[in-house]
Amino acid sequence: MKSIAIKQPNELVIEEREVPQPKSGEVRVRVKLAGICGSDSHIYRGHNPFAKYPRVIGHEFFGVIDAVGEGVDQSRIGERVSVDPVISCGCCYPCSVGRPNVCSSLTVLGVHRDGGFSQYAVVPSKNAYVIPNEIDDEFAVMIEPFTIAANATAQLKPTQNDVALIYGAGPMGLTSVQALKGVYNVKEVIVVDRIDERLAMAKSSGADRTINNTSLSLKDELDKLNIKPTVIIDAACHPSILQEAITIASPAARILIMGFSSDPCQITQQGITSKELSIFSSRLNANKFPIVIDWLNKKLIDPKKLITHRFDYTDVVQAIQTFEKDQKQCCKVLLTFS
Ligand code: NAI
Ligand code: MN
Repeated sequence: MKSIAIKQPNELVIEEREVPQPKSGEVRVRVKLAGICGSDSHIYRGHNPFAKYPRVIGHEFFGVIDAVGEGVDQSRIGERVSVDPVISCGCCYPCSVGRPNVCSSLTVLGVHRDGGFSQYAVVPSKNAYVIPNEIDDEFAVMIEPFTIAANATAQLKPTQNDVALIYGAGPMGLTSVQALKGVYNVKEVIVVDRIDERLAMAKSSGADRTINNTSLSLKDELDKLNIKPTVIIDAACHPSILQEAITIASPAARILIMGFSSDPCQITQQGITSKELSIFSSRLNANKFPIVIDWLNKKLIDPKKLITHRFDYTDVVQAIQTFEKDQKQCCKVLLTFS
């Protein structure tokens, strides 16, 4: 089989490997589609602190089970599946409180262990979620990015009375917009970014209002519009954003961050406590695949609005370069495996 491996930072090869045999409790997936995410590019470029090399990247993938290991029901062979990349121990404190996404010995497919940019991948059977026939392949491959929004919104508990503001109209901002509007029917969703083309995508994903903050003060703009966001999601993840979010938030608002920057940021307790703000963070997803599959079944979200490019896996370098360089036109890039 062919696998896309990062041998070391900036060295990507498509190499011949032996087709892996599923071990006890595992299934083998013949991969059909995979999505490129920022973290794939970061591992490729050597900017992911968690990555070990060599590594087969890819944590957003869909395919068909073609073999099962010991203890897995043979009837799973032939199932169309989407794979949850979060592998957890099941017995540590975070696992015991339903948060396997921050398991004390967390393993993420495509980061800590070989992932899905490969013609075949072996994964724990319980991570392979069967996809109903009514859900297209291209919807199924988009489940993982939507689980990020599902995890964030599970914490924020949005209601129809909320006015939400999302920083960033990249894939993470857009999945959040679709969840807030399509699933939670939030009254108003405002998206802030510096790129007009991306803001246009936010509109088509359901944003009620967009603001380009390249050359204006967001606080002044919101004051002028008399808007005080009650829910804020930072899907742009610059360290300066949290303090601004605290400043623009309504009293009693909830703020959620999802960035991994190691740079410090300055925030004041007064800003948080005087308005009794709640600040959440969200990493990956805690058992959210069934929830997003349900959203797809009910047609509450439309992942195709995010898919802008498709490449054959043999053109993966061009695909990643397009993803990295063309933020105006590019959102989700898919790789097809044959
Ligand atoms: P992206 O880079 O495609 O999108 C970020 C967007 O934010 C860009 O459109 C950019 O123009 C905009 N932006 C940057 N600074 C801004 C500012 N000050 N004000 C307004 N807009 C600004 O990235 P993607 O894939 O959407 O991911 C977003 C972030 O989420 C990344 O930092 C990534 O590391 C993080 N992430 C976190 C996950 C988690 O589970 N916690 C999962 C996936 C991504
Ligand atoms: Mn992803």
